[in-house]
Amino acid sequence: MTEPTPVRVRACGKVNLALRVGPADESGYHELATVFQGISLYDEVSVVDAAPDTFPITVAGEQAALVPADDRNLAVKAARLLAQAYGQGRDLGAAIAISKTIPVTGGMAGGSADAAATLLACSVLWDLDVSPSELDELAAQLGADVPFSLLGGVALGTGRGDRLAPVLSRGTTHWVLALSDGELSTPAVFRRFDEITPDPQRPRVSPQLMNALIGGDAVALAKELTNDLQQAALSMRPQLADIVALGEELGALKGIVSGSGPTIAFLAAGEQQAIDLSVRLSSEGVCRAVRRVQGPVPGARLIS
Ligand code: C5P
Repeated sequence: MTEPTPVRVRACGKVNLALRVGPADESGYHELATVFQGISLYDEVSVVDAAPDTFPITVAGEQAALVPADDRNLAVKAARLLAQAYGQGRDLGAAIAISKTIPVTGGMAGGSADAAATLLACSVLWDLDVSPSELDELAAQLGADVPFSLLGGVALGTGRGDRLAPVLSRGTTHWVLALSDGELSTPAVFRRFDEITPDPQRPRVSPQLMNALIGGDAVALAKELTNDLQQAALSMRPQLADIVALGEELGALKGIVSGSGPTIAFLAAGEQQAIDLSVRLSSEGVCRAVRRVQGPVPGARLIS
């Protein structure tokens, strides 16, 4: 018997160019105004049919041991949700294999990328009649970053970060990422934000950021990079502040905490500056790994 051909999808990680955080609603979620950029760090998800209502999962690649390979995995939740919502009573199941490159609990939407990739892969595997906007709705039920993981590029996120509008941008942004050992829990960072921000304002993204993106101007973009969760993340991991300062000393235009951290994203003036910075930062030995990436890149895409 020949092996079934898997459906393979890859999905990118993200950085938030601006992450403005407002008050929490009664469910505990915060109102956000954020600009996401998809970056060239990818997880790959492949799926094949499995016995009805079974969703076995394997996880390989960097930090795989940190990812739950069972029903707690957001990819399994994505497959189940899709089967329930659009399976029309068919007995669907899928074996899911994830190959990880995006840091785990690193503030780069790695779990969201896996969920988005699984939604797309299973919709093709099962030949479901589901539109992109219907997939988007399921994505938002799975997590605030999952709709962006489907879309990619550069997008403004409002509401919980899940209501998206594409943003015009020109050129390529060059980043150097400092990956740290250990995780920072996103809910814990938001809780810390609440403790240190008694009266958060209605969040909004600056027009200067939008202009810097349209102009493709890295120096102007560096001035507008901002993250309201940064202070909270740094207070929980004070060593991260030293990494930010070091990267800026070594030539970055600016360093910011990515999302809820602990990854630090350094913006470089261009490709050569990013190469130089990644070599210098690696040789300092202050973080688990250094990665050079570019943005923007598209969201979840079928690769076979
Ligand atoms: O939606 P997701 O599961 O990715 O969110 C993880 C956690 O981050 C939430 O449980 C919540 O604590 C926090 N969060 C928030 N406000 C948002 C998005 C996430 O408080 N808009």
